[in-house]
Amino acid sequence: MNQLTITKPDDWHLHLRDGAMLAGVLPHTSAHFSRAIIMPNLVPPVVTTAQAEVYRQRIMASLPKGHDFTPLMTLYLTEATDAGDVEAGFRDGLVKAVKLYPAGATTNSHAGVRDIDKVTPVLERMAEIGLPLCVHGEVTNPEIDIFDREAVFIETVLDPLRRRIPGLRVVMEHVTTRNGVDYVRAQERDMAATITVHHLMINRNAILAGGIRPHYYCLPVAKREEHRLALRAAATSGDQRFFLGTDSAPHTDPLKESACGCAGIFTAPNAVSCLAHVFEEEDALDRLEAFASLNGPAFYRLPPNEGRITLKRQDAPVAFPDKIDTGEGSVTVFDPMVPLHWSVTPDIS
Ligand code: DOR
Ligand code: ZN
Repeated sequence: MNQLTITKPDDWHLHLRDGAMLAGVLPHTSAHFSRAIIMPNLVPPVVTTAQAEVYRQRIMASLPKGHDFTPLMTLYLTEATDAGDVEAGFRDGLVKAVKLYPAGATTNSHAGVRDIDKVTPVLERMAEIGLPLCVHGEVTNPEIDIFDREAVFIETVLDPLRRRIPGLRVVMEHVTTRNGVDYVRAQERDMAATITVHHLMINRNAILAGGIRPHYYCLPVAKREEHRLALRAAATSGDQRFFLGTDSAPHTDPLKESACGCAGIFTAPNAVSCLAHVFEEEDALDRLEAFASLNGPAFYRLPPNEGRITLKRQDAPVAFPDKIDTGEGSVTVFDPMVPLHWSVTPDIS
């Protein structure tokens, strides 16, 4: 197969940041994606419906002319989140999910949740109204090995939470392990997971190949090869519970290339091309549309996009920039370490 036209994809997990960085990175997403779930971990975080609305307006103001893109807004869950405000945002059609960051788990998560019992009233309200909870699924206990934090989170936090609040609709974000895939597969309802492009392409060796390679460092950190293979099997299976969330997370190069570099991989420019590469390798190009464009809207109870994109396989590798310039500084683009042959063209009709 050398050409494929599919429903335009959505990105169910995206960091756009704010200000000059937002303006610099947004066009790379809006070129290929119709919608994206926008992560709320700004500084300060987006915790109220009113803040989500003004952030949405800033995103729309940064959108290049001619790009058709809808940001799907989320609220950052804190122990002070008001269930009434969450419900009002949902009823307005603005708030599409609430994000749970265990405090200390990742970038700008210090305002997140320390004691999950404190957010029970909000989670119960979300279960009642059908509003999804997006979860950063890692425990924060420093005694737990960083490569085990997802598996331990599932056992000690996620599964008890799902039993305590039946009907709560949960997306396990950026799942990185076989344990995560198996857990999601074992749930009959109200459970889904996003998978990033980079976790489909690299394993943990990439971070330490001949030296420390900060541009492959993200959270959850990439795991062993057996886990990458489990993610590939899930993504290409057609199973509705798995869909694309790139977790494209830009940081400027000085912040990545430092003694304590930030977590995050910027994949927006080549995410769809990488994805086509992975699905071709897995002989599953016929299931790319389900993963990138259909399963996500089905879980979020939204219609699939009307627009389409065409993927074309070309002999010469597609050129992507190594870095992009933003008003805040340069940001390195994910290097998949293999040539990419799939180009992406939005259909204009
Ligand atoms: O690698 C990551 N970067 N993981 C996260 O959970 C947050 C993100 C960011 O905001 O940079
Ligand atoms: Zn993220």
